[in-house]
Amino acid sequence: MSKIKVGVLGATGTVGQKFITILKDHPFFELTDLVASDRSKGKTYKEATSWKQDSDIPEKIASMTVKTYQDQLEAKLFFSGLDSSVAGEVETYLAEKGCGIISNSKNHRMDDNVPIAIPEINSEHLNLINDQKTKGFIVTNSNCSTMFLAIALAPLHKKFIIEKLIVSTMQAVSGAGYPGVPSLDILGNVVPYIGDEEEKVETELNKMLGEYKNGKIINADFIVSAHCNRVPVIDGHTETLSIKFKNKPSVADVKKTLQDFRAESQNLDLPMSPEKVIRVLEEDNRPQPRLDANKDKGMSTFVGRIRECKIFDIKMVVMGHNTIRGAAGAAVLNAEYMYKKGLLSKLN
Ligand SMILES: NC(=O)c1ccc[n+]([C@@H]2O[C@H](COP(=O)([O-])OP(=O)(O)OC[C@H]3O[C@@H](n4cnc5c(N)ncnc54)[C@H](OP(=O)(O)O)[C@@H]3O)[C@@H](O)[C@H]2O)c1
Repeated sequence: MSKIKVGVLGATGTVGQKFITILKDHPFFELTDLVASDRSKGKTYKEATSWKQDSDIPEKIASMTVKTYQDQLEAKLFFSGLDSSVAGEVETYLAEKGCGIISNSKNHRMDDNVPIAIPEINSEHLNLINDQKTKGFIVTNSNCSTMFLAIALAPLHKKFIIEKLIVSTMQAVSGAGYPGVPSLDILGNVVPYIGDEEEKVETELNKMLGEYKNGKIINADFIVSAHCNRVPVIDGHTETLSIKFKNKPSVADVKKTLQDFRAESQNLDLPMSPEKVIRVLEEDNRPQPRLDANKDKGMSTFVGRIRECKIFDIKMVVMGHNTIRGAAGAAVLNAEYMYKKGLLSKLN
């Protein structure tokens, strides 16, 4: 079967580079378009990007010419890692022209008919694209720190019903893009503020864990309080959680629910699907970003230190790779799922 032609919007950025490493030899998709700003237009990809991955730029990609979104594009499906200052407008423009967009940017996440999709936990939210008025569609990923929360909490919310959540994040510098946070601000330091981040965590999670009913999403009804911090870690966001549940579970109940979690999408042979969506670690000092984030193609969500909370019910630590599971890998997994389920046929 011939591969679907895909493009990357924001191809020169941190998330864009991750898309390229994931898509270079993808069995379903062929990378035909690299899109960035006017600053990069007309340059070869190698000239336009400041490559920060631990493998070389794939040879055939290095010599491709970078375009802008207004140029003639071959692809019908685009992965977006665009800066949020332009993502909203560019993604709408391409969706109106009949393209499918799977975006990492915040701009359309909270639109009523746009899903924040994770195949393992809310694949039914993808039905929302049928109500979009454009010829193409827009599907989004959550903000990178919300991704791991949503994955770890979805099976717990389903069984025990969350009432309150307090989360503190320790977010890697790669989450700020390139060049991101100046080295003099972050080396040997912690920055207790990430613009707009707490608001995103406090709203996106309720939508992602919401119920799809009668063509709409009914947001999950619990309160979230988030503290977001930038720390001198390269890749991997760590989050500490205190959770109050309606049906108070024991530590053993929580551990078993997370260990047993398996999703329907794991039976579809999707290349980016992790072997275990949630990995529960038993060691007192895990998960750690340096030791765990890259395991399982960077696609697992790691949970550790599950224990009782004296104020709420349960405390635990959650961690995952922010540019892979928290961004590019998650977007490609969404596309793989849509491909296998025939949801990309709107693009023909
Ligand atoms: N980094 C993460 O872990 C992460 C995780 C989840 C979501 N996100 C989101 O993903 C998006 C990209 O993040 P990033 O970290 O990859 O940022 P980044 O490294 O700053 O890259 C931004 C990209 O957007 C392009 N761009 C900037 N202004 C543009 C314009 N006016 N027109 C067209 N393209 C333009 C840049 O192209 P030029 O090189 O040509 O300027 C570059 O390719 C953001 O919306 C971010 O919030 C990031």
